[in-house]
Amino acid sequence: MKHFINLKDISSRDLKKIIIDAKKRKKLRKTLSTLEVDKGAPLKGKLLIQMFEKSSLRTRLSFYLAIKQLGGGTLTLRSNELHLGQGGESIADTAKILSTYGDGFMLRTDNDKKIENFRKYLSIPVINGLSPSSHPTQVLSDIFTVEEIKKKPISKLNICWIGDSNNVLDSLIAASVKFSFKLSIGCPEKFEPGAKVRNWVKKNKKKIFIYNDPKKAVLNADVIFSDKVISLNDKVNKKKKIAQFKKFKIDNKLMGYAKKDCIFLHCLPRGNEVTDDIFLGKKSHVWQQALNRVHVQKSILLYCFGKLR
Ligand code: CP
Ligand code: NVA
Repeated sequence: MKHFINLKDISSRDLKKIIIDAKKRKKLRKTLSTLEVDKGAPLKGKLLIQMFEKSSLRTRLSFYLAIKQLGGGTLTLRSNELHLGQGGESIADTAKILSTYGDGFMLRTDNDKKIENFRKYLSIPVINGLSPSSHPTQVLSDIFTVEEIKKKPISKLNICWIGDSNNVLDSLIAASVKFSFKLSIGCPEKFEPGAKVRNWVKKNKKKIFIYNDPKKAVLNADVIFSDKVISLNDKVNKKKKIAQFKKFKIDNKLMGYAKKDCIFLHCLPRGNEVTDDIFLGKKSHVWQQALNRVHVQKSILLYCFGKLR
């Protein structure tokens, strides 16, 4: 049994194996429709319990399809309808029950400690479906999308992030170490990645490149990633923060500093960090990126259930 909580805690070898498996599976599904099950139904009879303490569209749907296509099923819980969410039951007892009824647990939460607590008490795998420090399923899937579009290992590409230092960026930084790619980050000084993440990169003898000038960050980029400046439940002064990111908006002019064939990716939902021209334009691959989450999460589930080929 393996958990999938933070990319930094999973070996490069395993992460690469997940990507390879997802490539094979996606290819084999070309003629199958949405709910048809993959040959061999590797997770037949398995139940994935999903719990969302924050909103979600893509993660919820992609895990639903992922487990279905592997022959299993899913049940989605809303934390405010559980005794746990009302303060009437402990994590330990809730985890025991989840492990009794289900085979895997996916949690989206505002509290990293809660995932760690669940890990302590569960006897089934736990998957982080977004926490304050990490969005690992999103970023691993994004690596898959980059390699699929660019037809090259990501280690040969210049990757750029324009935006806030948030959970998605933290996972992208972890991925840059695990997959050895060059990562340039463009953000205002106040919003640079924190000491903990930077020290972890240093400890692993790798480097990330941080610029407060967006033009410098996108120079020669093969891929530009962005995300909402205001994350879910971000308790900042929204108007002020958006103003601080004004010159970091991704438009045609800024994209012009990147390579000619540079692509644009965004995990969604979007705010006003990117123009419609770019987001809906030819360089953007955001819909393919969203759908690929199904394919990669299938291989993540197989990894967690000890069934990765
Ligand atoms: N990208 C992503 O995680 O989307 P949702 O918040 O809709 O799940
Ligand atoms: N950084 C964003 C990602 C949403 C999928 C958030 O945490 O809201």
